Amino acid sequence: MSYKELLNKLNTEQWLEDKELLQLVFAFSPESEKYAMNLAGKKALSVFGNKIYYRGIVEFTNICRNNCYYCGLRKDNEKCKRYRLTEDQILSCCENGYRLGMRTFVLQGGEDIAFDVEFTDLIKKIHVRYPECAITLGAGERPDKLYREWYESGATRYLLRHETADKKHYELLHPDYQHFDNRMRCLNSLKKMGYQTGAGMMVGSPYQTYKELCEDLIFLRDFKPEMVGIGPFIPHHDTPFRDKETGSFDLTLYLLAIVRLLLPTSLIPATTAMDTVIKDGRLQAVKAGCNVIMLNITPLKERKDYRLYDDMAELNKMEGLDLGSLNAKFNTIGYEAVIDRGDYKEGVNK
Ligand code: 5AD
Ligand code: SF4
Repeated sequence: MSYKELLNKLNTEQWLEDKELLQLVFAFSPESEKYAMNLAGKKALSVFGNKIYYRGIVEFTNICRNNCYYCGLRKDNEKCKRYRLTEDQILSCCENGYRLGMRTFVLQGGEDIAFDVEFTDLIKKIHVRYPECAITLGAGERPDKLYREWYESGATRYLLRHETADKKHYELLHPDYQHFDNRMRCLNSLKKMGYQTGAGMMVGSPYQTYKELCEDLIFLRDFKPEMVGIGPFIPHHDTPFRDKETGSFDLTLYLLAIVRLLLPTSLIPATTAMDTVIKDGRLQAVKAGCNVIMLNITPLKERKDYRLYDDMAELNKMEGLDLGSLNAKFNTIGYEAVIDRGDYKEGVNK
């Protein structure tokens, strides 16, 4: 089948066989990218209208026990100045975000296990203070017991990218004490507990080929996450992958479009990494079917130390204070940001 036939089939059936997905990835070209983006943009419009959901993201700790080879927050990066926000700081971030119209708070951090008990209390406090807001967590791989406690405290969404669906590839991106099987265990548990669950991967991570990307698509097709985070890999100068190449912006757009067609109702952020590799890259991501924008509401002083990769966009900008000009940008391409929790529409995928 030609890429057009494959994409048309995907567009109508929301499904492709493994072999067809592989063909589609191999068919990546400027033409297929354009064709996929056009279908995906229309698909998103038909499901969500021209709405984009804003989320406020608080990077509450950059302390991490892990050593992912790609990430600037990895434990062995001694140059990274570590911080953990206080409860008051986190609550005032939420207050700011709320005032700006955000109705989802994303609490994102490294695997900072010393913070766990306080963290549970904090989730409860935010939930009581802002009952109409959604609380999303991104705090890595944790025991089921903790995931359950956090859920019962008021968090209903969890972001945990699968990073790669290929076990061998996973082992090339992480040291041997970080296990692919545990990552999968976490994703399955989260979903089973009722969290709206986010998975995803980097595009162009070291040693990744079209074969691994196809496995990622198969994984996403079958796991059916409610949210999907995809962005290009960008090297960080204080990591083992400092000399690796940045992932392709266009290939990322192509994959985002394919994922929009595979999972039409999913919430897909136009990631910061897209803006980092190309100016206003997030606008193009929206055209390719993305419908969520994460706005960083971490205090500026700490934010500069939350550096996953080099030249991370938005490091110095209090974007939250300038929603007007951001809105204006999205208006120019026909989209509108809304004050809304932006829940997944059909409950949780089983
Ligand atoms: N480039 C791009 N994305 C990265 N992440 C971590 N390091 C990098 C990097 N160097 C992504 C990972 C992780 C998420 C929080 O950020 O996919 O899951
Ligand atoms: Fe830690 Fe996440 Fe960075 Fe890995 S990607 S080192 S788990 S913060």
